[in-house]
Amino acid sequence: MAETVANGDQVNAHSVRFPLMEPEIAKDPGGFFDDLRSKCPVAHDDNFDGFWMLSRYRDVFDAALKPQTFSSASGINIPVIPQPPVLCIEQDDPDHRKFRKPLQGWFTEKRVQGWEPQVRQIVTTLIDKVIGEKKGDLAEIALSVPPMVIALILGLPEKDWDWLRERESTLLKLAQTGDKEGANAAVNDVYNYLSDSVEKRRASPEGDMLSDIAGLVVDGQVISHQQAVSLAFLILGAGHETTVGGIGGLLYRVFQGSDVRDQLIDDLTLVDSAVEEALRIESPLFGLGRMTTHSSTVEDVTIPVSV
Ligand code: HEM
Repeated sequence: MAETVANGDQVNAHSVRFPLMEPEIAKDPGGFFDDLRSKCPVAHDDNFDGFWMLSRYRDVFDAALKPQTFSSASGINIPVIPQPPVLCIEQDDPDHRKFRKPLQGWFTEKRVQGWEPQVRQIVTTLIDKVIGEKKGDLAEIALSVPPMVIALILGLPEKDWDWLRERESTLLKLAQTGDKEGANAAVNDVYNYLSDSVEKRRASPEGDMLSDIAGLVVDGQVISHQQAVSLAFLILGAGHETTVGGIGGLLYRVFQGSDVRDQLIDDLTLVDSAVEEALRIESPLFGLGRMTTHSSTVEDVTIPVSV
């Protein structure tokens, strides 16, 4: 089916409605994507000023490897979040690699294992609260653990964790609420907070990830204050909603009335595979975007230039 898009180009994609946070779709995203892959692998949606959806693995994989056409440098969120490009996720190579590589050391298996005692402590405290009150909601635990752990890794003080969690959720709910003003205020609050924290670490490094970011050397020079704030902002947000969704997806599957829960209780060695499977079946993250810098043909559909 041909349709005319805002810039006057003719495109031969089917137009579908895909409100990203639609509860009906959220109930069965797998079914929705199955349908899309088989009937309309390159679909157009006119929400949020119009965007295309690639649903086949091969097409997404190929696009991800072609940053010269499918660029991250003008934003990767749908809708575009009103903020300057976030380093390093909103950069293309070679700049992307320069900012990403120095941070990789913080995410090695050994380093992550080193945080296990503190992460266990955070989870145990939350579960003890439920036991103490004789009631509780697992969603609260899923929502609380990731922002607390990321703040811990960055080296942000515990007294600020609740505030950060609230500000970030306001920002991340933009697609649901459409509250651009609220999202703007949340972005500013978190940027200002991180800006102060980076400044303190520059003056007096504390051996944590934020100090490392504040003193990062790229192309032989310490990165600017603004770049350091941007990287810290990414770490804070990137690991938050994704991990909340990952834990939520796992809990949802475990408590869906199958015997998964009993199997896990009987054999704790199955937990790792359960986590992997939950991430595969209940993907915590979809709908990340790219801006096309050249027109491109995917599955016989011409996607025009968007930047
Ligand atoms: C279940 C949990 C997670 C999922 C599903 C997930 C998913 C993803 C995806 C799909 C991307 C690629 C985005 C793109 O190319 O447009 C990404 C990038 C990234 N994620 Fe995660 N993520 C998770 C947890 C985390 C955590 C815990 C952190 C850090 C504390 C983190 C930090 C990052 C960073 C820094 C990038 C940018 C990497 C780059 O640009 O090369 N993520 N994540």
